Amino acid sequence: MSPRLSSVAQRAPREWGGSAQNIDYSALHQLAPYIGKLKPVIARQLLREFTSSGDIVLDCFSGSGTIPLEAVMLGRRTLAFDTNPYAVALTRAKLEAPLSLEAANEQLTQRICDSQKRSQYDLRKIPLWVRKFFHPRTLQNAIRFADECIEKDDQFLLACLLSILHHQRPGFLSYPSSHLVPYLRDRKFPKVQYPEMYVERELAPRLAAKLVRTYKYGGAINRSSVLEVARTGVADLKLDFEVDAIVTSPPYMNALDYVRDNRLRMWFLDRSTVDYSPEPTERQIQSDAITAAFASNALKYLRKGGYCVLVVGETVLRKRIKTHPAERMLAKLTSEYPKLKVERVIRDTIPDVRRSRKTGAATKRELVLVLKKG
Ligand SMILES: C[S@@+](CC[C@H](N)C(=O)[O-])C[C@H]1O[C@@H](n2cnc3c(N)ncnc32)[C@H](O)[C@@H]1O
Repeated sequence: MSPRLSSVAQRAPREWGGSAQNIDYSALHQLAPYIGKLKPVIARQLLREFTSSGDIVLDCFSGSGTIPLEAVMLGRRTLAFDTNPYAVALTRAKLEAPLSLEAANEQLTQRICDSQKRSQYDLRKIPLWVRKFFHPRTLQNAIRFADECIEKDDQFLLACLLSILHHQRPGFLSYPSSHLVPYLRDRKFPKVQYPEMYVERELAPRLAAKLVRTYKYGGAINRSSVLEVARTGVADLKLDFEVDAIVTSPPYMNALDYVRDNRLRMWFLDRSTVDYSPEPTERQIQSDAITAAFASNALKYLRKGGYCVLVVGETVLRKRIKTHPAERMLAKLTSEYPKLKVERVIRDTIPDVRRSRKTGAATKRELVLVLKKG
């Protein structure tokens, strides 16, 4: 860390290290997995400290929607953007969830019924890498259910489907596989030894169980506080008004790949996304471009005196990467906005359970930069 950042860095409050399964937090936060997801406790504390009731809070890298959901629950208004269609579906799902379990169940019955009336897919036309994950009848029903949700713009049930798409547990739809990033576990659980893991998985009871889990602690969201959620990259961001605060976590440079790691869920959202590069997409050069776009397209909407709170993942340094992302980002932002003042820097260590990759170029620490627009 540069002397500038280290001289002001504080340790994260102890509760940031606690369990995310806190009864105080909406179960909507656990709607579906997302790599690099922020802990609700961090989002809540930052929003409480640096925003006020009724404030407009912008999250231009919304991911799974942790910050927008917490913002609305704290009585703020929110704007959420991300380039990844799975992220946008998930953020919308959380903010558009039916108001009660009863309402959600009614919606589910209707969707299941209508999806069964849809014409059958020719499964031979589905890419083999997708077919490998499912029993043919499960796949047939899952695609038709996804289509029905997409047609009705029902992001909530669509996200519920995506959340139970792959895992090795019986409540999920795939053959035995991992949960966060989709890999088949057919070597660990061969069909001859575990035939029960390779039978058809019915959608309706699994989705109904998912709804019960989701509404465990209630789930009412004030939708009038949601100003906009859209699939928009920061380079294309355009707003008609100023915001009171920006609270966001930019992509973790060179460490996470939000497209590749969500490939199966993304295929269900957009059938044309067949090819995935095995290379990570968040390279340093792209990261710099994202920072530059953030400086010119997001910061300009922050009102004078408003806070910009950035949760920046610290990638393990490699030969080609000489500086920490937070330092690099701060240097770029302050060169564009010299009146941006560093109010606080908080250093947080990410526990192994929250990291998608526990070795290599994984993110082990994050720095929270709290900046104030002068
Ligand atoms: C660290 S994640 C955000 C995690 C989020 N705070 C959460 O709790 O789930 C960064 C997000 O930035 C998104 N992203 C990457 N490049 C982007 C761009 N150019 N414009 C907008 N979003 C982008 C990724 O899709 C990813 O969802």
